[in-house]
Parts: sequence; structure tokens; C-alpha cells
Amino acid sequence: MIPRPLPSLEMAQPRRMPPIFSAALAQLLAIALTGFIMLSLRFLGLEIGIVPLLLTQSVLAVAVSFLLGMPIWWLAIQAVFIPALASVLALSIAPIWFLGGFVLLVLVYGSTYTTQVPLYLSRRRVWLAIQHQLPQAPGLRVLDLGSGLGGLVHHLADARPDSHVSGIESAPLPCWISKLRMMGRSNANIEWGDFWHTDLGGYDVVCAYLSPVPMPALWQKVKREMRPGTLFISYRFTIPGVMPAQVVEMNDLGQTELYVWRV
Ligand SMILES: C[S@@+](CC[C@H](N)C(=O)[O-])C[C@H]1O[C@@H](n2cnc3c(N)ncnc32)[C@H](O)[C@@H]1O
Repeated sequence: MIPRPLPSLEMAQPRRMPPIFSAALAQLLAIALTGFIMLSLRFLGLEIGIVPLLLTQSVLAVAVSFLLGMPIWWLAIQAVFIPALASVLALSIAPIWFLGGFVLLVLVYGSTYTTQVPLYLSRRRVWLAIQHQLPQAPGLRVLDLGSGLGGLVHHLADARPDSHVSGIESAPLPCWISKLRMMGRSNANIEWGDFWHTDLGGYDVVCAYLSPVPMPALWQKVKREMRPGTLFISYRFTIPGVMPAQVVEMNDLGQTELYVWRV
């Protein structure tokens, strides 16, 4: 176990408004302000070209986002959003491609604007580390919260045929793909749903690879529902203020860690 200072509880409190709403608000305000500036200049007999107009909108979007307290990476997205949109529209691409792209994004990332947990995949190194944490007892019940493409579920079900491994995933496309991957397996299954509505009481080991946002509330759920002696394992994201029983270094480029709590 690696001793470390505990982060404060405030660090990972969920934001009141999902960032997508702050981002949309900032863009709309910036568009309105840019329109106001353009009309004022026109009133004075001055015409403003499309490039300075886009630059003005971009600077204003960043300024409003900054005032709304958005994280730094959002400021970069806000800066390029409308100029990128204008550039792509200038390419005269058939609208069906935009519709296709939009549908694909909704099927994969549709719920991210509320969960603030996007899809990104863990690797074999992490699956092996989790496998080594599993108790040796047969008949183990394991659950992956937000199972993505089912990589961890598939690996654990292969490595421990004496156990039953489940995954729950809210994004439709990753869920369908992982359901296909589990076809014909008797000791693994994937459910389409929201893990906040799943009772964790029937599982010996619950795994999560999510984001900092849900961790404090998830720990409350774990304490409420999981039986004493069972394991809660989180890759990359710890629970603010709660010391894990074990921290496993992944020895990768990102210096990521696996956190293990005994309930
Ligand atoms: C970081 S990915 C991890 C995927 C997978 N566990 C892995 O290790 O490769 C997190 C996944 O959790 C899903 N997710 C987020 N909130 C969820 C919720 N409330 N219920 C079910 N799935 C959720 C997301 O759609 C995303 O696919």
C-alpha cells in the first residue's frame, strides 16, 4: 500500500450545471454580443468581414466561459467551436454525413452530458491487475459499472470460469457491441441500463473506471448496498477523503493507479 495525502472532499464535488449547458450558454451569449457589435458598427457605416467576426465571437466565447468558471480545456474547445463550424459548413458537405455523425455520437456519448463519464477503454494491464485482486473463492459475482465495450467483463469471465461476471452500460452502441461479444458465454452478461438503479448488494466485487465526478456519490451507494468484506475497485479515480486498502501502480506512461477498498 502506498501512503498518500487524502484529497479534500471539495475537490471532486459534482458541478451544479453540466458543462455542456454552460458551454452552450457561453456560445449563445458570444453570438449575441458579436451580433450587437456587428450591428453597432454597421450603424456607424463600418462593415466587418467574416474572419474578424469569427475571431470576435471566439474571443467573447472564451471570455464568457472563463467568467462562468469553465475548466481550461473547455476554453480551448469554446475558442475553436464556431470558427470550426463555419469552416466545415463552407466545405458544402452533404447534410446526411452530419446526421450520421450526430447519431453515432449520440449512440456512444449521448448520456455523457449528464453522467460526465465519457467512453474510454481500459487496457489488458488493468484487467490483469483487477484479476489479481479477485478472491480465490469459487462462485464469485463480479460487476463492472459502465462496462464500455465489455473488455474487462470478457477478460475476467475467461480468466475465472468459476465466477459470474456482469457489466452494465448506459451507452447503446457500446452496450450492443459488448452484448454481441458475450454471446454464447454462460458466465458473463451485459445489461443496458444506469448503474445508479442497480443494487450492488448481490456482488462480491464491483469495479469502476468512470471519472472524478460520480466517485463521492458512488462511495455512498457502495457503503449502503455492498456487503461487509466485499471489494470495490476503481481504476484511476479515487474517492476523496477515503483511504483505499490498497493502491496498485500500473507502471504505465500515465502513471495510473488502481484503488481497492474493502467495504
Ligand atoms: C471510462 S468508460 C470505461 C469502460 C470500461 N469499463 C473499460 O474499462 O474499458 C466508462 C463507461 O461508463 C459508462 N457509464 C457512465 N455512467 C453510467 C451509468 N450511470 N450507468 C451505466 N453506464 C455508465 C459510459 O457510457 C462509459 O462507457
